[in-house]
Amino acid sequence: MTRRVIVPLLALSLLTTILAVDKNNFKTCEQSSFCRRLRKYEQNKSPYYLDLSTLELDNNGFSASLKNSELEAANLKLTLTAIAGNIFKVTVDEVQGLHPRYKPQFSLNGEPQAAKLEILGRSSESISVKAGDAKAVITAKPLKLEFYHKEHLVSVVNGKGLFGFEHYRTKPADGEKDPQIQDDPGAWEENFKSHHDSKPKGPSAIAADFNFPGARRVYGLPEHGDRLALRTTGSGGLDPYRLYNLDVFEYEMDSTMAIYGGIPVVYAVSPEHTTGIFWHNAAETWVDINNSKDGNVVSSLVNLVSGSKTDPNVDVRFMSESGAMEFFVLTGPTPKDAVKQYASLTGVHGLPQLFALGYHQSRWNYNDQDDVTTVVAKFDQNNMPVDVMWLDIEYTDGKKYFTWDPIKFSQPENMVNNLTSTGRKLVVIIDPHIKREGGYFVHEDALNYDLYVKNKDGGVYEGWCWPGSSSYLDFYNPATMDYYKKLYSLETFKGTSHDVWIWNDMNEPSVFNGPEITMPKDVVHYGGWEHRDIHNEYPLSQVIGTYRGLIDRSPHRRPFILTRGHFSGTQRYAAIWTGDNDAKWSHLAASFPMCLSEALGGISFCGADVGGFFNNPDVELLQRWYQGAIWLPFFRAHAHIDTRRREPFLFPEDVMARIRNALRLRYAHLPLWYTLFWEHETQGEPVIRPLFYHYPQDDNVLDIDDTVLVGHSVLARPVTDPGESSVKVYLPGESKAIWYDLEDFRAYQGGIHTIPVTLDRHVVFYRGGSIVPRKDRPRRSATVMRNDPFTLYVALDSSKSASGTLYVDDYESFEYKNDKKYVYVHFNYENNKLTSSLIDKTDYPTKEWIERVVVLGAPKGIKGARLTSKSLGTVELETSYDSEFRSLTVRKPGVSIREPFTIELY
Ligand SMILES: *[C@@H]1O[C@H](CO)[C@@H](O)[C@H](O)[C@H]1NC(C)=O
Ligand SMILES: *[C@@H]1O[C@H](CO)[C@@H](O)[C@H](O)[C@H]1NC(C)=O
Repeated sequence: MTRRVIVPLLALSLLTTILAVDKNNFKTCEQSSFCRRLRKYEQNKSPYYLDLSTLELDNNGFSASLKNSELEAANLKLTLTAIAGNIFKVTVDEVQGLHPRYKPQFSLNGEPQAAKLEILGRSSESISVKAGDAKAVITAKPLKLEFYHKEHLVSVVNGKGLFGFEHYRTKPADGEKDPQIQDDPGAWEENFKSHHDSKPKGPSAIAADFNFPGARRVYGLPEHGDRLALRTTGSGGLDPYRLYNLDVFEYEMDSTMAIYGGIPVVYAVSPEHTTGIFWHNAAETWVDINNSKDGNVVSSLVNLVSGSKTDPNVDVRFMSESGAMEFFVLTGPTPKDAVKQYASLTGVHGLPQLFALGYHQSRWNYNDQDDVTTVVAKFDQNNMPVDVMWLDIEYTDGKKYFTWDPIKFSQPENMVNNLTSTGRKLVVIIDPHIKREGGYFVHEDALNYDLYVKNKDGGVYEGWCWPGSSSYLDFYNPATMDYYKKLYSLETFKGTSHDVWIWNDMNEPSVFNGPEITMPKDVVHYGGWEHRDIHNEYPLSQVIGTYRGLIDRSPHRRPFILTRGHFSGTQRYAAIWTGDNDAKWSHLAASFPMCLSEALGGISFCGADVGGFFNNPDVELLQRWYQGAIWLPFFRAHAHIDTRRREPFLFPEDVMARIRNALRLRYAHLPLWYTLFWEHETQGEPVIRPLFYHYPQDDNVLDIDDTVLVGHSVLARPVTDPGESSVKVYLPGESKAIWYDLEDFRAYQGGIHTIPVTLDRHVVFYRGGSIVPRKDRPRRSATVMRNDPFTLYVALDSSKSASGTLYVDDYESFEYKNDKKYVYVHFNYENNKLTSSLIDKTDYPTKEWIERVVVLGAPKGIKGARLTSKSLGTVELETSYDSEFRSLTVRKPGVSIREPFTIELY
C-alpha cells in the first residue's frame, strides 16, 4: 500500500509529499563507501591464495586456510562442501576474527543436505573433487575455483581476481594508511545526506567474481523495476544492481536501483548449460554484470582485426557490506535443474488455500464496515467474482495494529461474519512499526519485555512511520517471536476469525526519517547483530512470526500472508507483490518481467497492484491491466487513498463486460493454477516461467519478457501499450510446435506472429501437447466453486497426442499433507483415446466430476465417443464438432475425477 515519501524536517512534523521518486534519497554505488572501494580492485592481481598444507578433509568437503600475500593479518578459512543435488557450498570466514560475522538464519529451509565428496586429485598447487555430476577444481595460487557439471566448465570464481575480504581490524592511528582500505573516507564512518553511520566495527566488505563461460544471458536478482535479462553495468553509467530492501516511492523503470526485496541469486544461461549462484548474504549488496555481447564497438573491431573473437561469456561480481561469505554453486544443467536446486536450499511456497488464487479487492482504504459490505454486494449484483476484501491502515485505531477504529469499524466481528458467510475472506494490514503511545498494550509490553530493536548505545530505537513516533519489533529476539505470534490469537486480535488473513507491509523496514527511508545500519538487533548485517532478512523475520501466529490461531488452515519486503526463503511463508507501482503502461508492462524474475528467485506467488497504486489509470489501461494480471499468480487490485474509486462495477457496461470476462477467465483456470502450486510445492518448479525456462536452446527467447508461461501449457502475451491494433507474439518450439489461440482455437506454428487485437482481445495460447483442466461455470467466488465439474481442454500436438495433470483436495486444510487426502490425476491422450490414471495412491472423497472434454486439433470425421470406467461400465457419449472453434466437444462423461477412465473417440 501505503507509501508517500514524507520528509520529517523536524522530528515532530510530517510535511512535504513528493510527486515522483526522489533518486537523491537513495545511494548510488559511488555514494556507498564499500561499493566504491571494492569497485576499485584491479583485475588479475589477486593476492589471495589457499595454503593447501593446512587442508582438512572430511566425507563431505574440505577446508584450508586462505591467505592474502599483501596482508598478513588476514586470517581466513575457506570451506567447500558438497550438497545433495549437484550443488557446492563455499564458505569463507575469519579465524578468530575481532567480531563474529553474520550468516542469514531464516533463509535456508533447514541445513542443506551434505553429499559424499570424492577426491579426484590433490597436490600442493591444486585439489579436484567430485560429488554426483558436480566437480570442482581449486587452484591454490592465486585462488581460483572452477566448477564443472560432468566435464562441462560452468563457472570460474576469482578468475578475474576480484575476490576481496575485509577482515575486521582495529582502526589505524591517524596518518597511518590501511593497506587494504587505503584512504577511503567512508570506511570507518560514513555520512549520507543528514544521516551518520557510526560503523563501530569498521570496514567488513566481501566480494567475489564469477565467470560463466558460454553464457548468453544472466537472470535473477529480484527485485528491480527492470527487464528480465540483466544488463551490463558499469558502462554507460549504469550502476550495479543493488539489493537493499527499500521503500521507494513510485519506483523507476529500467533501473538497477534497489526496491522492496532483494534475492541474491543469478542464473547464467547458454544453449548448452544453465548455472546458478546463490550468494547467501543479507547485507547491502551490489552486483556488477559484464556480458561479452555488450562489449563495446572498439573491442569488437580489435577482435575483427586480430582475428580473435570473444566466446560468449558473462561476468557477475557480488559485493556485500558485511557478513560471512557463503555462496552456493547450482550446477544445473538446465534452467529447470538450477531453479529446483535453489528451491532445494530455500524451500517452496506451501499450497495456498484456493481462495488466495481468486481475485482480491483492495484499496487504501475501504472507509468503514458498511463500505466493505456494499462493495461485495455490488460484485454480486454485477456477476463479477471476488474472493477477498482487504483493509489498509485506516481500519486501526490511530495506526495501532491489532486494534480497530472504534467508529468506522465498530463491529468488526459482525462485518467479518457478514463477509465470510458468503465464502469470502478478509485480509488486514499489520506493519512491524509500533506506535509509541502510553496505554497501547503492544507498546507497553514491548517496553516491559524488551522486544524492540535498539540504538547503538542500547536505548530503544525510535523512528517515524505511519503512527508518528514508532519503535520496531526485533524478531531476532526469540521472546519477540513468542510474544508477536500470540498477538494474532482470536482472544487478542478481537474481531478477527479463522477467515481473516494478514498483510505485512512497510517491513523493509520503512522508516520515514531514516537514512534512505529505512533503519540506520548501526542499530542493534538481538544477539548483537547490527542492522547492517541482517537488513535484507528483516522482512522475512516478520513474516515468520506472522506465520507462526496464524498457524497457532488456525492450525487447520493454510495461512495466507502478503509481504512487501522479501528475501530468499520468504516463499515458505508469504506471497509478495511488486509494491507501490504507478498507473502507467510501463508499470503494467514491468509487472511481468518483475514477477518472472521473482519466480526464478523462488517466489512464484507474485502479482502487481491491478490498475497501479498511485494515480488514476484511464479506462483502457485499467481493462488491459485486468486482462494481463489474470496470468500472474497473485491477483489483487489496490489503489492509493488519493485516487478515484475504481472497483470494476463502477464502469459502463462494455468496460464491466471486459473486466468480467477477464475475471471469469481467471476463475476458469483456477484448477490449473491450483495444480501448478501443488507441483511447485512437491517438485520445486516455478508456477510461472519465462520462455527460456523451457526453451533455453532457442536464442530468440532470451530477451523476451513480455510473455508468461503458466506452467508449460498456457502462454500469455498481455497487451501493455495503449491504442494497439496488433501485437507480436513469439511462439516457441519451431515449426513442429502447435499453439492454439484461446480466442478461437485457431492453430499456429512456432515462430513470430502478428495478432490483431481489439479491446476485448486476450492474446493467450494453449500449447499443443497439453491438457488444461478448467471449471467453466461462472461463480461468485472460488470458495463456492469447490464442487463444480471440470472441463478438460485437450490441445493436440503434431502427433495428435497430449498430456496433463490435475490436483484436487479440500482446498483449505493441511490434510493433503498430513493424511494424503488428495487426488492427483494424470491425463494422457494418444491414438484418439483419453486415459486418466491416479499418480499417487491416495484418496479424497471429492464430489468433482468431468462434465466436458474439448479436443483442439481433433481429426475430423469422429462419429462418437465411448467412456469406460469401473463404476459406470461402458457408456456412449455425445460428441459435436464446432467448425468455428475448430474443436470437438465430448459431452457429459459424468465420471468422478477420483476414478480412472478412458474415453475413446471413434
Ligand atoms: C568486461 O569484459 C570484457 C571482456 O569480455 C573486458 O574487456 C572488460 O574490461 C570488462 N569490463 C569491466 C568493466 O570489467
Ligand atoms: C451485517 O449484515 C446485516 C444484515 O444485512 C446488517 O444489518 C449489518 O449492518 C451488517 N453488519 C455490518 C457490520 O456491516
